[in-house]
Amino acid sequence: AAVDPALVETGEKVFKKCKACHAVGEGAKNKSGPQLNALLGRTIGAIEGFKYSAAFKAAHDEGRTWDETAMTEFLTKPKAYMKGTKMSFAGLKNEDDIAAVIAYLKSFGG
Ligand code: HEM
Repeated sequence: AAVDPALVETGEKVFKKCKACHAVGEGAKNKSGPQLNALLGRTIGAIEGFKYSAAFKAAHDEGRTWDETAMTEFLTKPKAYMKGTKMSFAGLKNEDDIAAVIAYLKSFGG
């Protein structure tokens, strides 16, 4: 999908908050969080070799996927959207930051 380059640029800055735990882009490896290439549209918890929480495994087995709505809700309050997640991140307060980081992730496929 086409993404707005200015939004992607903002999203790259927002992604600094994620970088301690997540890599994205060519050759991205899992860190304490899974790599985030081709995320949008894929099944939750689908990265081979990453040890997800039971909450993520259940969502995976239910066939739930990452679309923009799910991503927005998850990034607003990770532990509310996915009870039992091991992602230790409070969430992003600013809606524009969330839209921007999603656009940034979309620029890596999905
Ligand atoms: C999972 C995004 C910050 C640790 C995920 C997933 C996404 C995501 C989309 C699900 C991936 C999948 O289904 O394969 C983000 C974004 C962040 C952020 C955009 C910044 C805004 C962080 C931080 C940490 C972290 C700071 C570490 C302190 C994890 C872990 C999981 C995860 C451990 C797996 C969750 C589980 O199995 O319960 N993240 N994340 N993330 N993230 Fe983050």
